Amino acid sequence: MIAVLLSLVVLFFCIWLLIRWRKVKSYWLERGVPHYPPHPILGSLTFLQRENPSIWMRRVYNDFKAPYVGMWQFWRPALVVNSPEIARRILVKDADVFRNRFLSSGKSDPIGALNVFTVNDPLWSKLRRRLTLVFTAAKLRSLNGITIAKTKDLVTRLEIESNKPELIDLRKICTDFTTDVIGESAFGITSNSLADGDSIMRRVTREFQAFNLHRGLSWSSIFFFPELVDIFRFSFFPKDTMKLLRKIFRTVVEQRGGYDKDIKDARDLLDALLKIKKEADMENEEMTEDILLAQAAVFLLGGFDTSGAALTWTMYELAWNPQYQERLYEDILNLKRKIGNRGFDSTVLTEIGYLDCVIKETLRIYPPMGWLDRIATKDYKIDDKLTIPAGTAVYVNGVSMQMDPEYFPNPEVFNPDRFLPENERTITPYTFMPFGEGPRNCIGMRFAFQTLRQALAEVLLKYEIKVIPDTPKPSEIEIEKNGMFYMPSGKMSVHFVKRDNEFVS
Ligand code: HEM
Repeated sequence: MIAVLLSLVVLFFCIWLLIRWRKVKSYWLERGVPHYPPHPILGSLTFLQRENPSIWMRRVYNDFKAPYVGMWQFWRPALVVNSPEIARRILVKDADVFRNRFLSSGKSDPIGALNVFTVNDPLWSKLRRRLTLVFTAAKLRSLNGITIAKTKDLVTRLEIESNKPELIDLRKICTDFTTDVIGESAFGITSNSLADGDSIMRRVTREFQAFNLHRGLSWSSIFFFPELVDIFRFSFFPKDTMKLLRKIFRTVVEQRGGYDKDIKDARDLLDALLKIKKEADMENEEMTEDILLAQAAVFLLGGFDTSGAALTWTMYELAWNPQYQERLYEDILNLKRKIGNRGFDSTVLTEIGYLDCVIKETLRIYPPMGWLDRIATKDYKIDDKLTIPAGTAVYVNGVSMQMDPEYFPNPEVFNPDRFLPENERTITPYTFMPFGEGPRNCIGMRFAFQTLRQALAEVLLKYEIKVIPDTPKPSEIEIEKNGMFYMPSGKMSVHFVKRDNEFVS
């Protein structure tokens, strides 16, 4: 009798599963939305750990050439948006509906879940309002001293590495540099990765960069199936890294006189966070150590690899495109001759417009975050044919629009002239979004530009960057398969050859 009952239960379950699967499978078909057929378990997520998500996004874009494409996260429908006009509505015009990201780091991971990148409204609005004040032009100018000092270390390091017989690892050096800049700015402790090839901060960022199966699964689940995060106790940042960062954070806060000390002029991002804590306390708004630490952690871990990769790709592309390198060098040299003894800083460097053209062109081809993640908080009409229900994830396919020949002719070709003012004006709006768009865009964008401008100006004034024979072309560099971000996985090496000008000894 029990065996019969059990068989019936299994039978009904199988029938239910089959009916449910048929419904899932026909979801986008019934709505007339193009899509790849879903895998019976993974839906569209078969690419995870096999192909970088940005590369998958480009495949979707090129295969369908449609304003939007349906996908499934396991059995849950989601939408990839390929149209600049729909992107504008989601990211900017109707940002109130799409205020939150779909990704989430669960409750078991307080630091991962409480940072401004992962957190949802209403905490996000409160945090973002306060954190925006951390990145004002005046605050960034006060951080410029750190960037200037670290850039000098970068030039010295390049000199040392250039004299070694082995090929340099460009990405390693660039991420040593960005670790030092952001580590010192966000945590207020000396970070000497460039000088020593190691530091406590670099230990943290190295762990963050290291990928193994567990990290891969953690990230995949945080980005595409957050329900699993708590079940498997996955975390946004590696747990040991967080322990170390918490220790550093507490020590520095204590050294600065604790949370009660009055801070008039914030010297760095940590001071700015402590000031936020005081202001929040006065307004009876909760601002725990976890919340503060989460922000410092996301500045470091969200900023070092993105900026480091951007610097790596820029130098690599300049080596392969000497005509643009020479053009930029001339501008840098002329400015240096004009300012005489004054060193480069964030104010004078804004005079070299071509620096930004080069950085933007790099980020067009190699955007570290190729797609922008949002979730609809209520039913939303995409167009006359499609309304998505509340809870649907949408992915704005930035990387693909940035590589679409309709918006950027010969998109594979590195050509910073696209961003000269007269050309930039003609770029279709919302087809170039390496820092995202709307209220949830990258809060560190200006900081990143400041860091990259300083590094490029100092390095290019002193060195010509040259291709090493038999090394891969930029387009042949392998992209990381396991991570979520668009990052090189292969080693990238170039020669740094000293320039012959009056500023080089
Ligand atoms: C080249 C360097 C960088 C690139 C390309 C980049 C790109 C991005 C992108 C695409 C987003 C998502 C925007 C959206 O969804 O609309 C983002 C968010 C964010 N970025 Fe960056 N980023 C860079 C550097 C930095 C730096 C240096 C910091 C911190 C110092 C930083 C902190 C953040 C934070 C906190 C967010 C979340 C903002 C929010 O949700 O309110 N980023 N970044």
